[in-house]
Amino acid sequence: MRPGEKCRFRRDPLEYIDNLCRSSATQAIRLPWGGYCVGDADLAQTLLRDPEYNTGKSRFFNELLPTRQTQVEVGHAVRNFLRASLPQYSAELGRAVAELPAVSRWPSAGNMLVHRCLANLLLHPGSTVRTRRLADQAARKGVFFHAPRTWQRARAEVLRAQLISALTEQVRNRRESPASEPRDVLDAVLGVCRPAEVTDRTAAELHLMMSRAIVVPISASLAWSVLLACLHHTSDTPWPWPADQIVRESLRYRPTPWMLGRTIPHPVDIGGVSFQPGELLSVSPYLMHHTEGQWTAPEAFRPDRWSEPDEHGHYVTFGAGPYTCPGAAVAQTLLTDSLNALIRNARLTVIGGDTRPVMAEGSVPRPFTLHRTPRCGGPDTTPQGGE
Ligand code: HEM
Repeated sequence: MRPGEKCRFRRDPLEYIDNLCRSSATQAIRLPWGGYCVGDADLAQTLLRDPEYNTGKSRFFNELLPTRQTQVEVGHAVRNFLRASLPQYSAELGRAVAELPAVSRWPSAGNMLVHRCLANLLLHPGSTVRTRRLADQAARKGVFFHAPRTWQRARAEVLRAQLISALTEQVRNRRESPASEPRDVLDAVLGVCRPAEVTDRTAAELHLMMSRAIVVPISASLAWSVLLACLHHTSDTPWPWPADQIVRESLRYRPTPWMLGRTIPHPVDIGGVSFQPGELLSVSPYLMHHTEGQWTAPEAFRPDRWSEPDEHGHYVTFGAGPYTCPGAAVAQTLLTDSLNALIRNARLTVIGGDTRPVMAEGSVPRPFTLHRTPRCGGPDTTPQGGE
């Protein structure tokens, strides 16, 4: 990428990709950092769903798992464990929100809130103190969330190595005396990964990867939901939309996944461009969610569109087709619960909010300050249908 382009991309990645799309002569847009992105929403949906581009192992797990079957089983096992653990998440959420300062700096405060509520589900309290301490530091010091400075990223690499080695020891111990029921995400992963196929170290890496895949997009999506709802409803009255619709609309308006990639399996022409096997073709959830004609007023933030039947275009925040995120429904519930907990008997306002994202681990809001003011003795702030 040329320096001027880099600058424009940093200033507003969404405007940048919009401009690339508008100025492209073909429906497959060449990306300055390499590869292509499909501009047309219907063509993009085909790329995500067509078995031709979606067979074999998914890119998500890299080469960590031996077969597609094991990939699917890991996704389902972790999803099932999280679904069964929703009450524990809610209980911790109540405590975490009660301890949230009246003024907090987001998205970092939201990142820590989400991680705190998930920490015991990722590694149960009976895990070694050292492993839990390293996991906590990993969330705070750049292993989970992108660290802006070079020295922080170097420190994160050291921390990551320490965490993987502590987790590897956990895996070894747990494999020697397996739990009858999963107590955390690590048990869920080990329940489907046989030692003959997945080494202790790989299982440890898988646990860290899954932990990030859960915590990071939930944190970013919660921050977007808080920010967008506050920016679009500034009066003193409670938000006029149910939390569930705010979350859904925030994930449409500012989807956290930036690009969903598929590897081309054989020579083919797509969107006016010839592709060779092994080349990468991506889909932009942001472009798909902002296609005129598929959504009514796509540039408007309108949570109530989710109660209207003909309002929906292709919604791909969680992907689509055979590689769709198995955690989509549970993530939606975790987010709705989190937003409801934040607005219960409180008024939220933001200072410094901006709808332009930064690209870190996906699309993340720029820093803003959240004021959470109690509505002492006021009406229940949860709109009808919000819980
Ligand atoms: C807001 C939260 C989340 C977002 C935005 C999100 C988004 C995504 C996206 C875009 C994909 C790739 C889909 C594709 O390439 O078509 C994906 C894959 C995946 N996600 Fe999520 N995800 C979230 C939460 C979760 C949670 C809570 C879990 C826990 C089970 C999870 C587990 C997975 C797995 C295992 C895959 C790989 C699926 C496969 O390749 O078979 N995600 N997610």
